[in-house]
Amino acid sequence: MERISALCLEAVDALKEVFEEIVKGAVPSAEPLLERVRALARAASKDPASLLQLAPTGPGDGYTFQHSVSVGVLALALAASLGHDVEQVAECGLAGFLHDIGKTRVDLCILDKPGELSRDEILEIRKHPEYGAEIVRGMTGVPPGVIEAVLGHHVRFDRTGYPESARTLCLGVPCAVVAVADFYDATTTLRAYQRPMLRGEAIEALRRARGTVLDGSIVEGFLELTDGGV
Ligand SMILES: [Fe+2]
Repeated sequence: MERISALCLEAVDALKEVFEEIVKGAVPSAEPLLERVRALARAASKDPASLLQLAPTGPGDGYTFQHSVSVGVLALALAASLGHDVEQVAECGLAGFLHDIGKTRVDLCILDKPGELSRDEILEIRKHPEYGAEIVRGMTGVPPGVIEAVLGHHVRFDRTGYPESARTLCLGVPCAVVAVADFYDATTTLRAYQRPMLRGEAIEALRRARGTVLDGSIVEGFLELTDGGV
């Protein structure tokens, strides 16, 4: 457990550097982060549920960063529990860590706004998958499946959702895994505009989302993985 915890902190540090570079307008390589995510993926493949015990961020990290780490860790555990090989597990993890990187281009006043958002503000937030895809396309070492997940994580299983341009793409395993991890973490975390769901409510919401918002087989895997956990 100590080893997994240390590997996770290393990945979080590498992710923090990526976020900081991007906020500065630089284009970092994804290689150092991917190397650390691969090490975590190897550990996850041996014991997926152990990753659910990790809490590698604190309130000082900001919501988007904390959420990115949580989704990355959940995606690693979920992909490993579904039996994917280490490289695929690592891609799912990297996709989770980077899925909302496009939000670094959205004004914090909009992201943290507690009240109702205007139509223009909603449209701006909905650009984050395209902003994110543009960012990760420029970084060296990002696998195509990760770029696709960054672009497609808000496209629903029934092919509604956004961005419209991604609805006809063939979206792979990292995208479907990240969508489930994102759904669970977003509903169970306190945000400016919502109280967090209790675990039981979140599980119910996940069940209802099977086959419409989310891929049912991956939701089943998540429910099995988190049975008694998370
Ligand atoms: Fe997102």
